[in-house]
Amino acid sequence: MGSNTDDDAQPILAASALLKRGGLVAFPTETVYGLGADAENVSAVARIFQVKARPSENPLIVHLARASALENWARELPAAAFRLAEAFWPGPLTLIVKRADRVPNLVTANQDTVGLRVPNHPVALALLEEFGGGIAAPSANRFGRVSPTTAQDVRDELGDKVDMILDGGACDVGLESTIVDLSGSVARVLRAGAITRESLEAVLGYPVPRLEQSQVLHPGQHPSHYAPRARVVLTSVERIHLELRPLILEGLKIGVMGSPAQMVDLPAQVTRLTLPDTLEAVARVLYRELRAADRAQLDVVVIVPPPKTGLGEAIVERLERAAGPRPEPAEN
Ligand code: TXA
Ligand code: MG
Repeated sequence: MGSNTDDDAQPILAASALLKRGGLVAFPTETVYGLGADAENVSAVARIFQVKARPSENPLIVHLARASALENWARELPAAAFRLAEAFWPGPLTLIVKRADRVPNLVTANQDTVGLRVPNHPVALALLEEFGGGIAAPSANRFGRVSPTTAQDVRDELGDKVDMILDGGACDVGLESTIVDLSGSVARVLRAGAITRESLEAVLGYPVPRLEQSQVLHPGQHPSHYAPRARVVLTSVERIHLELRPLILEGLKIGVMGSPAQMVDLPAQVTRLTLPDTLEAVARVLYRELRAADRAQLDVVVIVPPPKTGLGEAIVERLERAAGPRPEPAEN
C-alpha cells in the first residue's frame, strides 16, 4: 500500500538485514555487479571466496557510502587519497591505502593495505547508507570469468548461491574500477578503468605509471582473467581475413567482434558481434558481447581492439587478458 518510495526501499531494507545476518547480497554498481558481504564479518567474507571459487590470496575491495568514511577504514592517508576521493567519488575508482585495524585479514589477503571505493550507483549507495558499514565485494562472477553487468548475468554466474540479487539494470560503465595504489611513495595504477590515467594525472599533477609487476595478486597477474569460454584472438583490420582462413578450414564456429566498418566483407558463416563506435559505449557492451559469444557457443572470437588511449587502455587490457594463455581447459 506504500508509496513508490516505500516500494523502492523494501529490497534495500531486506538486503541490509541480510548483510547484517552475514548473508551475501549481489548488487549493482556503475562498473559491474558486486557480490557483497559485511566487510567486518569474517565468516560472511569467507563465503564470498567459497561462492566465487576465488583463491584467498586475492584481496577484496571494501565499498563505502561516502568519502568521509575513508578515515574509518584506512590510516596514514596521503594527501593524494583525499584529492582523488574528492575528484572521483562516488565513481569507478578504487584506492589502495594502508588499512585500519577493523579490516579483517581475510579481506586484505593478509596485507597491510585495503582497497576502498565509493560506487556511483543509486542502489549501491542506498544499500551502503542503510547498512551503515563497509561492504566487501568482488565482481559477482565465478573466479576468472567475465564480470556481470546485469542482474541476469549474476543469476547465470552464481544462481542460488547468493541470498539476494538487487536488480539495478545494466551497468553504465561496464568495466571494473580503476585501481590506484597509494600505499607506496608514488601513486601507481594497478588496473586500468574508466578513470583514465590522464584524468588521474590532471588531478594529482604528476605522472601515474601503470604498475606491471606487483607483490600483490590482482586480476592483472592472472593471464586468462575476464575470459569467456570461447578462445579470443586479437588482430587488426588488415589481418582479419588472414586470421579467419585457418579457423574456417578447421571448421570452427567463429565470431568477429568489431565496429561495423571493421566487419565488411566477412564470410557468411561468421557471427558478427558488433561494437559501437565510442570507447564509452564499447566498454558498456563489451562483457555483454563476450557473454553473447558463449551463448552462441562460438569456439573462437576474433576481435579488433580499439586504440589504447583514454578508456581504450582499460578495454584493451581486458581483451589482452581474455586472449591470454589459459592455465587449464575451460570447464562446462
Ligand atoms: O568495479 C569494481 O572494482 C568492482 C565493483 C563490484 O566494485 N569490483 C571488483 O572487484 O572488480 P574484484 O575483486 O573483482 O577486483 C578487485 C581487485 C582484486 O583483484 C584485488 O586483487 C584488487 O582489486 N585489490 C583489492 N584489494 C587490494 C589491495 N589491498 N592491494 C592490491 N590490490 C587489491
Ligand atoms: Mg573480478
